[in-house]
Amino acid sequence: MPSFPTVRLRRLRNQPRLRAMVRENNLQRQHLIHPLFVHHQPDMRRPLESLPDTYQLGINHLAEEIDQLVALGVPAVLLFGIPSYKDARGSEAYGKNSIISQAIHLIKQRASQLLVITDLCFCAYTDHGHCGVLTSTGEPCVDNDASLPLLVRQAIIHADAGSDMIAPSGMLDGMVSVLRTGLDRSSYSQLPILSYAAKFSSSFYQPFRVAAEGAPKEGNRAGYQLDPANLGEALHEVDLDITEGADMIIIKPAHTYLDVIANVHRSHPSIPLVAYHVSGECALLKAAGQNDWVDEQAAVMEVLLSMKRAGAQLIVTYYAKKVAAWLMEK
Ligand code: PBG
Repeated sequence: MPSFPTVRLRRLRNQPRLRAMVRENNLQRQHLIHPLFVHHQPDMRRPLESLPDTYQLGINHLAEEIDQLVALGVPAVLLFGIPSYKDARGSEAYGKNSIISQAIHLIKQRASQLLVITDLCFCAYTDHGHCGVLTSTGEPCVDNDASLPLLVRQAIIHADAGSDMIAPSGMLDGMVSVLRTGLDRSSYSQLPILSYAAKFSSSFYQPFRVAAEGAPKEGNRAGYQLDPANLGEALHEVDLDITEGADMIIIKPAHTYLDVIANVHRSHPSIPLVAYHVSGECALLKAAGQNDWVDEQAAVMEVLLSMKRAGAQLIVTYYAKKVAAWLMEK
């Protein structure tokens, strides 16, 4: 009878120090991106109950938040604007003194090292709450091609104000190629595009829509966002966006779409992937943590690590500040 040495995997698991040395994936502060909601009322500071440490912040409170992020070592923010004025064409988004431009100026003055990524969409700026202008017939339906030039105008406004990276999130067909061309023509050929390539039509965006005041008034976004059942189509979207010139890709939501992250990582190993741990996914953890149904810190770290394991390089999460603080304590 041949005898084999007994395999003992726990030899490498027994000691904490060795365990840490052979750990395959690590979450570090440099991987975190914190979403910020900038409100048009300068003195606004409204906490968003379902999310950890997240507020609608007016420009007068932005400096404190920025100082906190810098002190915690969070390297990047993802900016969303909540404008005072909404109309059918989302015109505040490409007005000269848009809320986003004001916020970028303030952040850059306060902390030039903080990377400012700007979400590029119309849902918070249109009175109907959809991600572009609508066609004039029947059901609310986004007019893809009529929305594209407006998106480019909005992107140039962000770029002029000093955005470090443009993140189009409206799932318009062809958006990355028109943005790349538009930015290049306006001498922003060095500005990277982080495309929300695979954005699913998800129930987990609900707290965000409250935060960004951008829920559709009528209808839903299933006509332009991905069907949660479709992996193949998501991979197709990603291929297209990369061909069109996207520098990095967002997969969203993240926790419930780890298979998408893993597949994209395999098919495009050199494109940095960003997992968007969306509002509803954070809300579940917060609620369970508050009730002591799970240990919040351990659960959050485990969820975020699962995104790293799947192949995400960076993570957008409303837990960024908390995670940064936890990592500093270690
Ligand atoms: C807007 C946008 C959404 C999110 C980010 N950008 C919501 C939506 O499509 O309704 C969701 C983020 C989150 O839930 O945290 N296009």
